[in-house]
Amino acid sequence: MNDQKTVWVTGASSGLGLHTAMALRDDGWQVIAGARSFTGEQRDGMICLPLDVTDGESIREFCRRAAETALPDALVQCAGMLVLGSCEETGTEEFRRVMDTNYLGMVRMNREVLPLMRERGGGKIVLFSSINGLMGIPFQSAYTASKHAIEGYAECLSLEVKPLGIQVMLVEPGDHRSGSDKYRPHAAAMSDSSPYAAAYESAVAQIHHDETNGSDPDVLGRKIARILDRKRIPFRKRIASADQHLAVYVHRFLGARINGAVLRKYYIRERKKG
Ligand SMILES: NC(=O)c1ccc[n+]([C@@H]2O[C@H](COP(=O)([O-])OP(=O)(O)OC[C@H]3O[C@@H](n4cnc5c(N)ncnc54)[C@H](OP(=O)(O)O)[C@@H]3O)[C@@H](O)[C@H]2O)c1
Repeated sequence: MNDQKTVWVTGASSGLGLHTAMALRDDGWQVIAGARSFTGEQRDGMICLPLDVTDGESIREFCRRAAETALPDALVQCAGMLVLGSCEETGTEEFRRVMDTNYLGMVRMNREVLPLMRERGGGKIVLFSSINGLMGIPFQSAYTASKHAIEGYAECLSLEVKPLGIQVMLVEPGDHRSGSDKYRPHAAAMSDSSPYAAAYESAVAQIHHDETNGSDPDVLGRKIARILDRKRIPFRKRIASADQHLAVYVHRFLGARINGAVLRKYYIRERKKG
């Protein structure tokens, strides 16, 4: 009898999704990977199917084709993007695109996969949140809002599906050396004449620096693979540097005034006047 476990991974064409998929494959899982840029090929020992999480029809087709191979023991949802920009200048459509991909994409995917997991008597669902799901940073409001939505949604989901044998885990990565600029466009209205231009330039430089010098995505992939091998998985797994663990702690336990001052000082280096 084939007792190989199967995992479906969304957003697995690059970044943390790809590293997680490869770590799971190396641990012996059958990986069925989804992303818009896949065309249905076998790649590096994984089945790579086209998937757009903003499109219900594409999700249903992905699930249909993946289920022909095997129902999922686990679903890992990594598909994501962000738009950089001030709250004032990020357009409603840009907010909508981020929410549609990061949050509603997960909701849609779960709605298709939950019946399949119930059918096979249980499963594990891993949802990629972020440190930004716990705290806001300047000029990432659309992304931060989407990750906060995921955090609240995951708490509700976990309560509902646990009695059905389905476990939910939120992964909250700090900065990793994996994100591509392709998935981090600037809001169309941001320009040199923006009233936020100087602060924006400083914050974007800091964000870029933190990602470029971030943690190793292979280590994150291997951690998730090790956890998914356990019978019981934690509800929350933060995978971040010591600095970023500390930032979350400060955010939770210090008041908004101190927290705001620390974050502004870190991200927004004001130019001296005169
Ligand atoms: N990198 C970090 O430091 C970091 C930190 C915290 C959290 N995260 C989270 O980790 C996850 C991966 O981020 P990343 O930065 O490592 O990856 P990334 O390189 O930005 O890749 C994003 C992935 O999502 C896929 N994707 C985007 N839109 C999609 C859609 N509509 N349908 C299906 N797939 C879609 C992309 O593939 P296609 O273009 O081929 O569809 C790609 O595989 C995200 O949820 C992100 O929020 C990352």
